[in-house]
Amino acid sequence: MTSEDLFKKITAHCKEYGFIFPSSEIYDGLGAVYDYGQTGVELKNNIKKYWWDAMVLLNDNVTGIDSAIFMHPSVWKASGHVDAFNDPLIDNRDSKKRYRADVLIEEHIRKTEDRIDREVEKAAKRFGDSFDEALFRATNGRVVEYQRAAETVRNRMNDALKSENLEELRQIIIDCEIACPVSGSRNWTEVRRFNLMFATEMGSAADSTLRVYLRPETAQGIFVNYLNVQKTGRMKIPFGIAQIGKAFRNEIVARQFIFRMREFEQMEMQFFVPPGTELEWYEKWKDIRIKWHKALGLGDRKYRFHRHEKLAHYANAASDIEFEFPFGFKELEGIHSRTDFDLSQHQKYSGKKIQYFDPERNESYTPFVIETSIGLDRMFLSIVSAAYAEEKIDREDGAADERVVMRIPPALAPVKLAVLPLVKKDGLPEKATAIKNRLKFEFNCQYDEKDSIGKRYRRQDAIGTPYCVTVDHQTLEDDTVTIRHRDTMEQERAPISRLSEIVSEKTSMKSLLEKNG
Ligand code: GAP
Repeated sequence: MTSEDLFKKITAHCKEYGFIFPSSEIYDGLGAVYDYGQTGVELKNNIKKYWWDAMVLLNDNVTGIDSAIFMHPSVWKASGHVDAFNDPLIDNRDSKKRYRADVLIEEHIRKTEDRIDREVEKAAKRFGDSFDEALFRATNGRVVEYQRAAETVRNRMNDALKSENLEELRQIIIDCEIACPVSGSRNWTEVRRFNLMFATEMGSAADSTLRVYLRPETAQGIFVNYLNVQKTGRMKIPFGIAQIGKAFRNEIVARQFIFRMREFEQMEMQFFVPPGTELEWYEKWKDIRIKWHKALGLGDRKYRFHRHEKLAHYANAASDIEFEFPFGFKELEGIHSRTDFDLSQHQKYSGKKIQYFDPERNESYTPFVIETSIGLDRMFLSIVSAAYAEEKIDREDGAADERVVMRIPPALAPVKLAVLPLVKKDGLPEKATAIKNRLKFEFNCQYDEKDSIGKRYRRQDAIGTPYCVTVDHQTLEDDTVTIRHRDTMEQERAPISRLSEIVSEKTSMKSLLEKNG
């Protein structure tokens, strides 16, 4: 199965099993906006809880807030978003479609690199076991030529972006003969900058309306509350403020399902430190965050750090944690050392003193900031992508069968336990309902009596339920049930009185948080 096919299957599965629906689907949807369904919202809430508890409960010096989406417009002037939060866009005159110029060029580079991969694949088949891929890549004339071409274009694009040379970006598109994917023509406009913030108006009287923005990041809500939290919480530096909330960006290239959305959620933490200690804290937070990811058990090799060579003007170090999505390694989380830029800017624009008196240093200063910023939806996508598995299985009657199983980390699974009466009679539904009603106070349980037991197992596998309990006639005699484990499909007999302990052991948030310790 190609990675493209796999991604299509994951997307379809998310819809079929109530994880994610296109927004306003009965009106044909709204570009890059999605709704979370009955299964998805549970997984999303569990991810939030895992992040929140790891930040706020496990760290004595991190506390949380929930700031408003609307903020004073000066916030976005101070943060630089009004002037500099934009993308280089180009229009095709024939199709009237608008594209990000850098993305068009990147796609062109990717096509060249795909050609290289195809050459390598062909050669690997031709030479069999004796194939030396590294040698082939370094010496095959066609491959070397493609590699050089891709590198030249990439360097030109990076230089143009760095020097804000929009004319050069257009020239690269012309030189590479990049055509509009819709019209097929090369009839391009100039490249222009386009701000990504959504704006709206607050107030009803024409002379007193205020142009406000839907926040493009949650971080600024933390910066403008720094003084409030530090003072009312009597926080001593170093300390952090965590927040989970919606963010909005008018992304032009919004694709790859929930990877890049126009309305999404962020989980951000700003950690305030004394100047001069920021790089030490930056390394510490990189370690803490990668541990948080790896504790999920999706596979350590699915994560890697990508250090930014080109830093934003306010940063003195920055790395992304990248995840191997079905479409390749891509940014999942950013960890940035943002100096004192944001607090200094707010001090300047608001005219309020934003300083900390450090009793140990006996001096006042503007704190420096380490930021960890992760997209909740992207985190969701990383989990469902890694969890999705198609498996061939042998049925009890000897026939071959298949199942789709979502190997979601048990502590994050939407439903922890399904309680299933073997048949819909003989008092088994009543017994099963009683078990469910007893356990529902501890974890998310589902009761299901419809269809054969095999079909019910498949439904639970498809939403990633770690345990299914079957109530049969023996249950009525000795108060034992069959527990089926999602991953191994093994079954064991256990007393009802031990269910809570068995299920909690693997599925509790505590067990996951302890892996971060
Ligand atoms: N405060 C820093 C900040 O917002 P960012 O790299 O622009 O930095 C942080 O965003 C994270 O938010 C990204 O690593 C990504 O996970 C998520 N994110 C950003 N734009 C997104 C979008 N359009 N759709 C979904 N997630 C997005």
